[in-house]
Amino acid sequence: METVKSVETETQLNLDPIIESKIKTLLNQMTLAEKIGQLSQHNGEGFEAVAAINRRVKQGQLGSVLNQADPEIINEWQRIAVEESRLGIPLLIARDVIHGFKTVMPIPLGQAASWNPDIVERGAQIAAHESSSVGINWTFAPMVDISRDPRWGRIAESLGEDPYLCGELGAAMVRGFQGDNLSNPNSIAACVKHFCGYGASEAGRDYSSTNIPEYELHNVYLRPFKRCIDEGAASLMASFSDIDGIPATANDYLLTEILREHWKFDGLTVSDWNAVQELAVHGIAENDKDCATLAANAGIDMEMSGTSYEDYLSGLVKENLLSINQIDAMVSNVLRLKFRLGLFDNPFVDDKNAQLFGSDAALKVAQEAAQQSLVLLKNQNNLLPLSSTKKGKIAVMGPLADAPYEQLGTWIFDGDASISQSILTAMKLFQTDNLKIDFNCGLEYSRSKDTKHFNDAIKLAKNSDVAVLCLGEESILSGEAHSRACIDLPGAQIDLIKQIKATGTPIVGVILAGRSLTLTNIVDDLDAIIYAWHPGTMGGPAIAETLFGQKSPSGKLPVTLPKMVGQLPLYYSQKNTGRPPTDESVVLIDEIQQFAEQTSLGMTAFHLDAGYKPLFPFGFGLTYGEFDYSNLQLSAAQLSENSSITAKVTLANSGSHTATETVQLYIRDKVGTITRPIKELVGFQRVTLAPGEKTSVSFEITTNNLKFYTRRRQWEAEPGEFQIWIGGSSDATLSDTFSLLA
Ligand code: GLC
Repeated sequence: METVKSVETETQLNLDPIIESKIKTLLNQMTLAEKIGQLSQHNGEGFEAVAAINRRVKQGQLGSVLNQADPEIINEWQRIAVEESRLGIPLLIARDVIHGFKTVMPIPLGQAASWNPDIVERGAQIAAHESSSVGINWTFAPMVDISRDPRWGRIAESLGEDPYLCGELGAAMVRGFQGDNLSNPNSIAACVKHFCGYGASEAGRDYSSTNIPEYELHNVYLRPFKRCIDEGAASLMASFSDIDGIPATANDYLLTEILREHWKFDGLTVSDWNAVQELAVHGIAENDKDCATLAANAGIDMEMSGTSYEDYLSGLVKENLLSINQIDAMVSNVLRLKFRLGLFDNPFVDDKNAQLFGSDAALKVAQEAAQQSLVLLKNQNNLLPLSSTKKGKIAVMGPLADAPYEQLGTWIFDGDASISQSILTAMKLFQTDNLKIDFNCGLEYSRSKDTKHFNDAIKLAKNSDVAVLCLGEESILSGEAHSRACIDLPGAQIDLIKQIKATGTPIVGVILAGRSLTLTNIVDDLDAIIYAWHPGTMGGPAIAETLFGQKSPSGKLPVTLPKMVGQLPLYYSQKNTGRPPTDESVVLIDEIQQFAEQTSLGMTAFHLDAGYKPLFPFGFGLTYGEFDYSNLQLSAAQLSENSSITAKVTLANSGSHTATETVQLYIRDKVGTITRPIKELVGFQRVTLAPGEKTSVSFEITTNNLKFYTRRRQWEAEPGEFQIWIGGSSDATLSDTFSLLA
């Protein structure tokens, strides 16, 4: 039975007295210049940078370097720091190891589709193992920005739209990166980012303003950060964006009042790239000196890549605009992480073992993660799984069919495309005398409008029993600063689909993308659809073994798939509004009678040309099994502060394939002191059943799962009636109610 975790548990400082005493001793020896030196992080990429870094390190004017992955260079910097600087303080070596180092896991949005904390943790472990072997000891992940707008390119790096799922998977990444002990040589420090609310960037346009009201900030955007900090995340990065006019980098409400005073965070806070100096660009600082003043007073310990700290902090102390106690607290947070990482004992790596990349063990985890990230959206007439034994001809087609680099997705600075296995490569391994597998790209890349291959593609499709059409986005079309206003398939892919459809050959659509795309204009043309996100190094073998039924797809959507971009933002946990839409209350644009009377269309919350439902809802995903839910039972009708209710359901697999279902538990707080979502995920479990097998699945509900940030500005549960659902998506219908007693 799974105890459903809550988010807001009081966190207490758990400082190690030995480390704290070492910090104190070191602080007493440090000059102001050496203290300020610890508060800067510079880019270590490129020849000039290496020479400049050598100088800074020797003078004790650098606390951290980012963007260097050569173990020899890193070892030399650590040697200079330890042997040639006055106090021998080692360096934090940081890198964006977001979803793998050389072996690339699915993009985080794809990992989120697995709904499996275990595989997410194991993927982060592999990333930590490979990156630490070259001397990297700090990664800028997990990114837990709640993302409800797929126009935003960084949705690719996120863990989706739901605070609970995002929190549980972000915490799994923290465990994977940091291991049981940060001082383990294979561990690297996690950095939960971007604090906070970056995913609410207006119109999904990256870096744009966010306007997040207080209740939404606490009940949605802050939750996954608290969950990751409760899991022990060693550091946190502030967001570029402004929240209701106050950029996160200068936001003392977030960085001090919430993070330090309420959450008792004892880790390191770092700005985003140049974000301190960008406070002047935002227009809340006159100059770099003001930028440094605002950021340091708000709670940014370390400045990434800018120089306002090293240029102005010393003067600010002398002018009493910043106290030496504040500087000491900032430096303590830096030194504490270095002690926790064991860098004072040994900051060096054996650069011989830095070649342990892409091991069988790593590739196995990458394939498992990719396979569990696949979401089966449609399977008309059970077209899937394909037979690998029957005589036949399969056409593998599309611009993403043989794209080993593109399938790695965004943020793969070190990803090795030479070990990435494409869908075509993997499908070809199933070719036999009986089963012919041929290829035509149709389009040479995802944005291409050059239809020169269409005739051959159409001919191949006509002469095949099934076409596996691999579509989607090149990796460059998502990630930082890569937002799209139209989220249809790019280029001439839709035209390609229509032409292949016209041949009458059944089509399996495999979609590789860094976001949820709008598929409305092609969903009927595809007989089966597998959403593969950007599946990483082993995406090909994972997709091939799934298409041929060696494994059943088990993924569930971590984000809503809208019908059209005009519906955005669209997510399952919407508020009810005073006029909630129902199927009966909606009249769609083509159904409207001419001269219809103004109020005749129903007065509820929907779009005339889209209705109110998505194309596919959050939590949705089919398998090769047939899962039936029945017999929902609650152990009690009433819950009190110290009791719990067990919610139990029978799950059966009436299909002909063994499959894994992610059983989801949702609640609704019927009446609150603020309006409450119509559904909220509070628990999930992966259950594997053979054909004909059935089992009982239980969840334990306590008041912790009902708490929210109320009108009283307290994190608490409010008495009253609650509805619960258990099912295979946010569209679950099996429901019951219980009440929480005062
Ligand atoms: C980038 C990103 C941040 C990343 C950092 C270092 O601009 O916003 O997520 O970790 O800079 O590369």
